Amino acid sequence: MLRRLYKDQPESFAFTPANQEWAQGQISKYPEGRQQSAIIPLLWRAQEQTGWLTRPAIEHIADMLGMAYIRALEVASFYFMFQLQPVGSVAHIQICGTTSCMICGAEDLIAVCKEKIAPTPHTVSADGKFSWEEVECLGACTNAPMAQIGKDYYEDLTAEGFSQMLDDMAAGKVPVPGPQNGRFASEPLSGLTSLKDFDSGHTKYNASVQLATDIGDTIKRIDGTEVPILTPWLKGRDQAATPTPPAPEPEAPAPKPVAKQVEAKAKPAAKAAPAAEVEESAPELLSGAREGGADDLKRIKGVGPKLEQTLNELGFYHFDQIAKWTEAEIAWVDNRLKFKGRITRDDWIGQATQLASGEDTEFSKRVDKGDVY
Ligand code: FES
Repeated sequence: MLRRLYKDQPESFAFTPANQEWAQGQISKYPEGRQQSAIIPLLWRAQEQTGWLTRPAIEHIADMLGMAYIRALEVASFYFMFQLQPVGSVAHIQICGTTSCMICGAEDLIAVCKEKIAPTPHTVSADGKFSWEEVECLGACTNAPMAQIGKDYYEDLTAEGFSQMLDDMAAGKVPVPGPQNGRFASEPLSGLTSLKDFDSGHTKYNASVQLATDIGDTIKRIDGTEVPILTPWLKGRDQAATPTPPAPEPEAPAPKPVAKQVEAKAKPAAKAAPAAEVEESAPELLSGAREGGADDLKRIKGVGPKLEQTLNELGFYHFDQIAKWTEAEIAWVDNRLKFKGRITRDDWIGQATQLASGEDTEFSKRVDKGDVY
């Protein structure tokens, strides 16, 4: 299946304070220089926050981890757990359609989805509450057929029971996940044949279901309030020592078409060098634009309206000013922007040099055509 970024994207993304704290905790698990290892949990949390994974979220996380956008997109587009298009507000249903589940009735479950949600997968239902897709084996074959709904497994399903489950969810009820036929876990249908004295720990449900019900709402998306349950290693730690990332540039341009733009960002990102290592030196600053007016700095890829305003306030109005920045001057500017590394990553100097000489760039042509918002 072709996995692409959705055609309509929001302007920006930022984690909620609770999720931001959680994300910093995740990053802190990895040794210096290995922070990119946190990409999957961070993408997942962004998806939990929004319901699906938006392009601004992918880029925001790439920035947090110092990754090229294309690297983060590779991860997001590879794993089917990441939804690259809007999903139902109540639940996104993932029906396992692989061998065991297929033999045991997955097609009946898919028929229910087609009837009750939408005839095609990855389509939000008319009431906006549900969406569905068929997925490959989810590793619960003993409890076939099954579906993953949100973060939980619903197993040993029948078409009738599953249909009722959808009605219940639509009505605001939350079915208990796990086996739906009375099984505790994946023991034989006819009952245990060994370990008959096994003590489950006296919990009503198996460990997965117990944890889900402990959270209180099994189809609720994770919102950061579960930190004590999900990030026990943070307990008792000096969280003040956790570094706070630079604030995102909220008004960065969100050009279309999205796929080409992400490709274009890959090369500069790979070359980016941390400006903090270079001693800074102030570039030539102007108190206002020269006669003839300021250049449209938004024709530089990576400069949105907010950033242009910041540059003007610092004393930069013209492409030729930016084109002349030395490494030390880049460090000076970088230290005064909310987001470091953008100048090198997006090659502002190269772009500004081209624009100052009267040439267009691929990006500026799109800006001039009105393709960039
Ligand atoms: Fe469905 Fe494995 S075949 S979970």
